[in-house]
Amino acid sequence: MTQKTVLIAGASRGLGLEFARQYSIAGWKVLAGVREPARAVALMRVKGVELFPLDVTSAGSLADSAWLADEDPLDLLLVCAGLYGPDTAGFLAPGDADFDAVMRTNVLGPMRVIQTFGDSVAKAGGRIAVLSSAMGSIGASTQTSGLLYRASKAAANMVVKCAALEYGPKGGTVVALHPGWVRTDMGGEGGELDAYTSVRGLRSVIEGLEAQANGGFFDWRGEALPW
Ligand SMILES: NC(=O)c1ccc[n+]([C@@H]2O[C@H](COP(=O)([O-])OP(=O)(O)OC[C@H]3O[C@@H](n4cnc5c(N)ncnc54)[C@H](OP(=O)(O)O)[C@@H]3O)[C@@H](O)[C@H]2O)c1
Repeated sequence: MTQKTVLIAGASRGLGLEFARQYSIAGWKVLAGVREPARAVALMRVKGVELFPLDVTSAGSLADSAWLADEDPLDLLLVCAGLYGPDTAGFLAPGDADFDAVMRTNVLGPMRVIQTFGDSVAKAGGRIAVLSSAMGSIGASTQTSGLLYRASKAAANMVVKCAALEYGPKGGTVVALHPGWVRTDMGGEGGELDAYTSVRGLRSVIEGLEAQANGGFFDWRGEALPW
């Protein structure tokens, strides 16, 4: 059987790291993009993972890594890089620096990553999954906490929708995924799930995606979420 390849954008910690672990154990070729490869000690310990430098906000960084798509057809592209930003309660507009950092990471990041690797994934009939959040669901939101993060993930959802329109007809399947509230650096100790359980669920959702799921928004159990 041909070995499958996954490219993970943002794999140094948290869910990206756990995806790298689980896909490696499952026998996939894992291309793991991280901002500072020399500091990604936990990832280095994962057998068989190929690290490469990647800052999802940087056009230059993506241009430097675009060749990876020429080497192997990408069966799966995972955009895991994310930033929460200010932990606000109530309707509080962020400062300029926070706005720029969060929007560049959570919105510009998926745009650039998908534009760089989308054609390769579509050509292979593969999948593109962006880790979004239920906090970005306009339909399901009932709170104002983390206003900037919510707005960024709502925007990321539109990036997914447009990517689905672009790459679906070319053979790809593009989805937004909510991992649950997970105990990572971002989710904190109060999270409801460990990273292993969330990623195991997300892998199963990705594995089961049919072509008609293109442009969908699902949680780690496969439940469809409102945009
Ligand atoms: N944890 C949760 O409960 C939860 C819930 C809903 C959605 N999500 C989403 O799931 C994704 C992963 O979250 P997490 O919990 O794993 O977060 P995390 O533990 O805070 O890890 C964030 C990851 O993103 C990377 N990253 C940030 N900016 C980057 C950039 N410009 N280029 C490349 N990598 C970058 C970080 O790399 P460095 O080590 O270089 O900083 C780190 O590997 C995020 O998109 C998040 O919004 C998480």
